[in-house]
Amino acid sequence: MSRQELTFIGLGPMGQAMVRAFLGKGHRVTVWNRTASRADALVAEGAVLAPSVRDALAASELVLLSLTDHQAMYDILGQAPEALAGRTIVNLSSDTPDKSRRAAEWAAGHGARYLTGGVNSAPSGIGAPESFTFYSGPEDVFAAHKDTLEVIGGTDYRGADPGLAALFYQLQLDIFWTTTLSWLHAVAVAEANGITAADLLPYASGTLASMPDFLGFYTPRLDAGNFSGEVERLSMGVASVDHVVETARDAGVDTALPAAVLEVFRRGMAAGRAGDSATSLLEILKRPAA
Ligand SMILES: NC(=O)c1ccc[n+]([C@@H]2O[C@H](COP(=O)([O-])OP(=O)(O)OC[C@H]3O[C@@H](n4cnc5c(N)ncnc54)[C@H](OP(=O)(O)O)[C@@H]3O)[C@@H](O)[C@H]2O)c1
Repeated sequence: MSRQELTFIGLGPMGQAMVRAFLGKGHRVTVWNRTASRADALVAEGAVLAPSVRDALAASELVLLSLTDHQAMYDILGQAPEALAGRTIVNLSSDTPDKSRRAAEWAAGHGARYLTGGVNSAPSGIGAPESFTFYSGPEDVFAAHKDTLEVIGGTDYRGADPGLAALFYQLQLDIFWTTTLSWLHAVAVAEANGITAADLLPYASGTLASMPDFLGFYTPRLDAGNFSGEVERLSMGVASVDHVVETARDAGVDTALPAAVLEVFRRGMAAGRAGDSATSLLEILKRPAA
């Protein structure tokens, strides 16, 4: 792999881990951060701190961003938009698909090429082979920088639409955050009953470990629009979720999360889905509640 010069903007926990990975592979890294002191340790490890955004952009053709959101990108790059011409911007900051498309247009308007990245790893996983990042944008731009981007983990190129990487990233987080909250809710109910998170761990892990089989069984049926209730029926599911809500209420625990689930199940029942599989709730979720 050729060792490249690159500029890295945004030195939160994620940006710091990424810069360390590049320095570890011998890349020459110019850094810039709004709070300059966050660069101190990286400079001691070999990074070069640019005195301004303009200098940071002038230093390298390849410019990586790891910021809280896209507004931060405009706040930073808007300080020296004339320095964007001829640069390749790889924005590894979380935001929505639509904002990613607008950011790509904005960058193109200033003469820069643009890739969106969606990072599927905690900072501790950066550089590990099992971590990966979704990318989207022009394929030739991705191909030109793929080897360098692989320093921070695997690459999964999703297509030319700059919104796609953000979309796949948000789909993962849609699953991750609701799953995390459901686990915390179960821990709250457990603790209210004198059961610790450690006691629950093997059972919570077992439930989550069964999910790939569950998803694997239902995915082809979802794609075929088959919601047949031969294995389980929504009428059973609504009673089951009702018991979850009641168990939480009896424990004196917040019921907002399972109550929201119950509400969707009830909308499915009202739509005449009682005899269908609970996966028929997909049809309910496709539209906002009236
Ligand atoms: N951390 C994770 O576990 C994780 C995992 C996957 C993906 N991500 C994504 O990776 C990105 C970076 O994560 P992080 O944990 O490093 O985020 P962070 O702690 O929010 O740090 C983000 C960086 O954004 C800068 N920033 C924010 N608003 C700014 C503004 N208006 N103007 C200039 N700079 C601004 C911060 O500068 P200052 O230092 O000056 O505040 C900092 O350098 C995020 O989009 C996050 O969603 C994070």
